Amino acid sequence: MDHKLAEYIPEIQLIEDQKLRARVLSVWKEALSLGGWKLSDLNLIPFTLLIPNCPVGYLDHVRAVTNTAVEVAKVMRAAYSDIITINMDHLVAGGLLHDIGKLLEYEKRGDRTVKSRRGALLRHPFTGAALSFKHGLPDEVTHIIALHAREGEGVKRSVEAIILTHADFINYESLKTTLET
Ligand SMILES: [Fe+2]
Repeated sequence: MDHKLAEYIPEIQLIEDQKLRARVLSVWKEALSLGGWKLSDLNLIPFTLLIPNCPVGYLDHVRAVTNTAVEVAKVMRAAYSDIITINMDHLVAGGLLHDIGKLLEYEKRGDRTVKSRRGALLRHPFTGAALSFKHGLPDEVTHIIALHAREGEGVKRSVEAIILTHADFINYESLKTTLET
Protein backbone atom coordinates (compact mmCIF):
# COMPACT_ATOMS: atom_id res chain seq x y z
CA MET A 1 0.00 0.00 0.00
CA ASP A 2 2.79 2.47 0.90
CA HIS A 3 4.37 2.10 -2.49
CA LYS A 4 1.07 2.38 -4.34
CA LEU A 5 -0.07 5.32 -2.23
CA ALA A 6 3.23 7.14 -2.83
CA GLU A 7 2.56 6.81 -6.56
CA TYR A 8 -0.76 8.59 -6.11
CA ILE A 9 0.88 11.45 -4.23
CA PRO A 10 4.32 11.86 -5.85
CA GLU A 11 4.78 15.16 -3.97
CA ILE A 12 5.56 12.99 -0.93
CA GLN A 13 9.08 12.77 -2.40
CA LEU A 14 9.52 16.49 -1.77
CA ILE A 15 9.61 15.74 1.97
CA GLU A 16 13.24 15.21 2.90
CA ASP A 17 12.72 13.83 6.40
CA GLN A 18 12.01 10.11 5.93
CA LYS A 19 10.25 9.80 9.28
CA LEU A 20 7.91 12.65 8.40
CA ARG A 21 7.24 11.11 5.00
CA ALA A 22 6.29 7.79 6.64
CA ARG A 23 3.99 9.55 9.09
CA VAL A 24 2.20 11.42 6.31
CA LEU A 25 1.60 8.10 4.55
CA SER A 26 0.33 6.49 7.74
CA VAL A 27 -2.24 9.28 8.19
CA TRP A 28 -3.40 8.79 4.60
CA LYS A 29 -3.76 5.04 5.11
CA GLU A 30 -5.80 5.40 8.27
CA ALA A 31 -8.06 8.08 6.76
CA LEU A 32 -8.71 5.92 3.70
CA SER A 33 -9.50 2.96 5.91
CA LEU A 34 -11.73 4.89 8.35
CA GLY A 35 -13.62 6.47 5.47
CA GLY A 36 -13.98 3.17 3.65
CA TRP A 37 -12.29 4.51 0.50
CA LYS A 38 -10.04 2.76 -1.98
CA LEU A 39 -7.12 4.44 -3.72
CA SER A 40 -9.07 4.28 -6.96
CA ASP A 41 -11.83 6.38 -5.34
CA LEU A 42 -9.55 9.33 -4.76
CA ASN A 43 -10.38 11.18 -7.94
CA LEU A 44 -14.02 10.11 -7.92
CA ILE A 45 -14.53 12.01 -4.67
CA PRO A 46 -15.22 15.68 -5.51
CA PHE A 47 -12.81 17.91 -3.62
CA THR A 48 -15.71 20.01 -2.38
CA LEU A 49 -19.45 19.61 -1.95
CA LEU A 50 -19.85 23.40 -2.11
CA ILE A 51 -19.57 23.45 -5.91
CA PRO A 52 -22.49 21.41 -7.34
CA ASN A 53 -21.33 18.51 -9.56
CA CYS A 54 -17.71 19.55 -9.10
CA PRO A 55 -15.63 17.82 -11.79
CA VAL A 56 -12.34 18.20 -9.91
CA GLY A 57 -11.40 15.25 -7.76
CA TYR A 58 -10.02 15.15 -4.25
CA LEU A 59 -6.59 13.87 -5.26
CA ASP A 60 -6.07 16.45 -8.03
CA HIS A 61 -7.05 19.21 -5.61
CA VAL A 62 -4.71 18.10 -2.82
CA ARG A 63 -1.82 17.81 -5.25
CA ALA A 64 -2.56 21.16 -6.94
CA VAL A 65 -2.78 22.97 -3.60
CA THR A 66 0.47 21.40 -2.39
CA ASN A 67 2.26 22.35 -5.62
CA THR A 68 0.81 25.87 -5.54
CA ALA A 69 2.09 26.30 -1.98
CA VAL A 70 5.55 25.01 -2.91
CA GLU A 71 5.86 27.44 -5.81
CA VAL A 72 4.69 30.36 -3.66
CA ALA A 73 7.19 29.38 -0.98
CA LYS A 74 10.02 29.39 -3.53
CA VAL A 75 9.18 32.96 -4.55
CA MET A 76 8.90 34.06 -0.91
CA ARG A 77 12.22 32.47 -0.05
CA ALA A 78 13.94 34.15 -2.98
CA ALA A 79 12.46 37.53 -2.13
CA TYR A 80 12.71 37.50 1.68
CA SER A 81 15.27 34.86 2.58
CA ASP A 82 16.92 37.09 5.16
CA ILE A 83 13.60 37.80 6.88
CA ILE A 84 11.25 34.83 6.47
CA THR A 85 12.10 31.18 6.98
CA ILE A 86 9.86 28.53 5.49
CA ASN A 87 10.05 24.88 6.47
CA MET A 88 9.39 23.14 3.15
CA ASP A 89 8.96 19.70 4.77
CA HIS A 90 6.24 21.05 7.02
CA LEU A 91 4.62 22.93 4.14
CA VAL A 92 4.48 19.85 1.89
CA ALA A 93 3.26 17.60 4.71
CA GLY A 94 0.61 20.18 5.59
CA GLY A 95 -0.38 20.45 1.93
CA LEU A 96 -0.76 16.73 1.47
CA LEU A 97 -2.73 16.45 4.72
CA HIS A 98 -4.73 19.69 4.78
CA ASP A 99 -7.92 18.01 3.55
CA ILE A 100 -7.25 14.51 4.86
CA GLY A 101 -10.24 14.90 7.20
CA LYS A 102 -12.50 15.14 4.14
CA LEU A 103 -12.07 11.39 3.76
CA LEU A 104 -14.08 11.20 7.01
CA GLU A 105 -16.27 14.23 6.38
CA TYR A 106 -17.62 12.69 3.20
CA GLU A 107 -19.06 9.29 2.48
CA LYS A 108 -20.32 7.40 -0.51
CA ARG A 109 -24.06 6.96 -0.90
CA GLY A 110 -24.77 4.99 -4.04
CA ASP A 111 -22.70 6.78 -6.65
CA ARG A 112 -22.92 10.12 -4.86
CA THR A 113 -20.55 11.65 -2.33
CA VAL A 114 -22.39 13.22 0.59
CA LYS A 115 -21.56 14.64 3.99
CA SER A 116 -21.27 11.95 6.64
CA ARG A 117 -22.81 12.13 10.10
CA ARG A 118 -19.28 12.53 11.47
CA GLY A 119 -18.60 15.29 8.97
CA ALA A 120 -21.72 17.16 10.05
CA LEU A 121 -20.40 17.11 13.62
CA LEU A 122 -16.70 17.57 12.92
CA ARG A 123 -15.45 19.38 9.83
CA HIS A 124 -12.27 18.16 8.19
CA PRO A 125 -9.85 20.52 9.97
CA PHE A 126 -10.83 18.85 13.27
CA THR A 127 -10.62 15.23 12.16
CA GLY A 128 -7.51 15.96 10.08
CA ALA A 129 -5.77 17.55 13.05
CA ALA A 130 -6.80 14.65 15.29
CA LEU A 131 -5.35 12.09 12.89
CA SER A 132 -2.19 14.12 12.46
CA PHE A 133 -1.71 14.33 16.22
CA LYS A 134 -2.41 10.63 16.65
CA HIS A 135 0.28 9.71 14.11
CA GLY A 136 2.91 11.90 15.71
CA LEU A 137 3.19 14.61 13.08
CA PRO A 138 4.94 17.75 14.33
CA ASP A 139 2.64 20.35 15.86
CA GLU A 140 3.67 22.70 13.04
CA VAL A 141 2.01 20.36 10.53
CA THR A 142 -1.08 19.79 12.68
CA HIS A 143 -1.32 23.60 12.98
CA ILE A 144 -1.49 23.93 9.16
CA ILE A 145 -4.27 21.33 8.96
CA ALA A 146 -6.23 22.76 11.88
CA LEU A 147 -6.12 26.39 10.72
CA HIS A 148 -6.29 26.14 6.92
CA ALA A 149 -10.01 26.84 6.66
CA ARG A 150 -12.42 29.13 8.46
CA GLU A 151 -11.52 27.40 11.72
CA GLY A 152 -8.26 29.38 11.51
CA GLU A 153 -9.87 32.79 11.01
CA GLY A 154 -8.79 35.26 13.64
CA VAL A 155 -6.04 32.91 14.86
CA LYS A 156 -2.35 33.72 14.33
CA ARG A 157 -1.13 31.38 11.61
CA SER A 158 2.46 30.34 10.91
CA VAL A 159 4.00 31.43 7.59
CA GLU A 160 3.54 27.89 6.27
CA ALA A 161 -0.14 27.93 7.30
CA ILE A 162 -0.67 31.33 5.65
CA ILE A 163 0.85 30.08 2.38
CA LEU A 164 -1.15 26.84 2.43
CA THR A 165 -4.43 28.55 3.31
CA HIS A 166 -4.08 30.99 0.44
CA ALA A 167 -2.93 28.27 -1.99
CA ASP A 168 -6.10 26.37 -1.07
CA PHE A 169 -8.31 29.41 -1.66
CA ILE A 170 -6.62 30.33 -4.96
CA ASN A 171 -7.52 26.87 -6.23
CA TYR A 172 -11.00 26.74 -4.71
CA GLU A 173 -12.11 30.26 -5.64
CA SER A 174 -10.76 30.03 -9.20
CA LEU A 175 -12.64 26.81 -9.84
CA LYS A 176 -15.77 28.07 -8.12
CA THR A 177 -15.97 31.30 -10.11
CA THR A 178 -15.27 29.43 -13.36
CA LEU A 179 -17.69 26.58 -12.81
CA GLU A 180 -20.52 28.77 -11.55
CA THR A 181 -20.63 31.02 -14.63
FE1 LIG B 1 -8.33 22.06 0.17
